[in-house]
Amino acid sequence: MRISALGRRVLLLGHTGKMGTALAEAFADDHEVVGVGSRDVDAADFPAVAALVERTEPDLVVNTVARLGIDACEREPSLAMKINAMLPRLLGRLASERGFTLVHFSTECVFSGRKREPLAEGDEPDPVNIYGYSKFAGDLAVRDATERHYIFRLPVLFGEGPKRGQLVERMIDRAEAGEAELRIADDIVTSPTYALDAAHTVRSVVEGDSRPGLYHLANHGQASLHELMREMMANLGLRTRVHRASYRDFPSLAEKNSFTPLRSGKLAPLRSWRDATAAYCARRVGAPPPVAESHPAL
Ligand SMILES: NC(=O)c1ccc[n+]([C@@H]2O[C@H](COP(=O)([O-])OP(=O)(O)OC[C@H]3O[C@@H](n4cnc5c(N)ncnc54)[C@H](OP(=O)(O)O)[C@@H]3O)[C@@H](O)[C@H]2O)c1
Repeated sequence: MRISALGRRVLLLGHTGKMGTALAEAFADDHEVVGVGSRDVDAADFPAVAALVERTEPDLVVNTVARLGIDACEREPSLAMKINAMLPRLLGRLASERGFTLVHFSTECVFSGRKREPLAEGDEPDPVNIYGYSKFAGDLAVRDATERHYIFRLPVLFGEGPKRGQLVERMIDRAEAGEAELRIADDIVTSPTYALDAAHTVRSVVEGDSRPGLYHLANHGQASLHELMREMMANLGLRTRVHRASYRDFPSLAEKNSFTPLRSGKLAPLRSWRDATAAYCARRVGAPPPVAESHPAL
């Protein structure tokens, strides 16, 4: 199951996204990475996806494509199921038939958070919205379709990339544009994670001796979104004031998971979310990283 033994062509689905950008960097040095976004192939067009896989003859397929967002999934549940559950099922079946390894990504949103403790691989998912249900269905579909799989469950991410629509990047952009005050939920608690740390760990796991299966992948520790954004502002030297709010102040179409930090019972801890935040911010402002080549150690 080691990629090096299998070869080195990586088909990266969703290379323009946050994880896709990080994974392209993590695998770039000695792999042939074939990056595909929605402009190249519509992932909801399953014959086109199957043809792409056949054409590319990958050793590893990394699927970051997802229908993200609670409201988007509530509005279009069938599209959510197609992209988040049926597409991974198709990729799992192709992996089994064609002999490549499949890396797939899941989310903390498969959990309600009612346990009020960090959640490990053995915790039973109990989603509370269509996004969570559809992603959990994807996890099960991959697990059942192929033994050659790695599923990485991720918490709230920050990272580089051309898409700036997700919470952390959106708030940074607003602060950098001069907004004086932001209101951020202090009652959504996660384990904030740098996409680049996650991507380097994915590579280490897949190329190392770790067995296929499900992994929770997060920087160490937990924080509310409010704490995270305050830390970002401090590291970026931005004067925007970050006020405490509740997630209930930002209504959504379905229940939100509000306490879902992830921990792993299988992987050594990654560096803390504060160190990862400092590294991300240093890179963003063009400063040297605060910790030398500070990627997670496995
Ligand atoms: N971001 C987070 O905070 C977070 C947290 C937990 C779990 N995750 C999981 O991590 C994975 C990656 O998330 P991300 O944040 O990297 O997502 P993202 O930034 O939104 O990127 C999604 C990627 O999927 C592509 N895509 C979307 N719909 C497509 C379609 N119909 N056909 C082809 N490509 C399509 C997008 O391409 P275009 O750019 O061309 O549209 C983009 O490259 C997902 O499985 C997600 O559930 C993310």
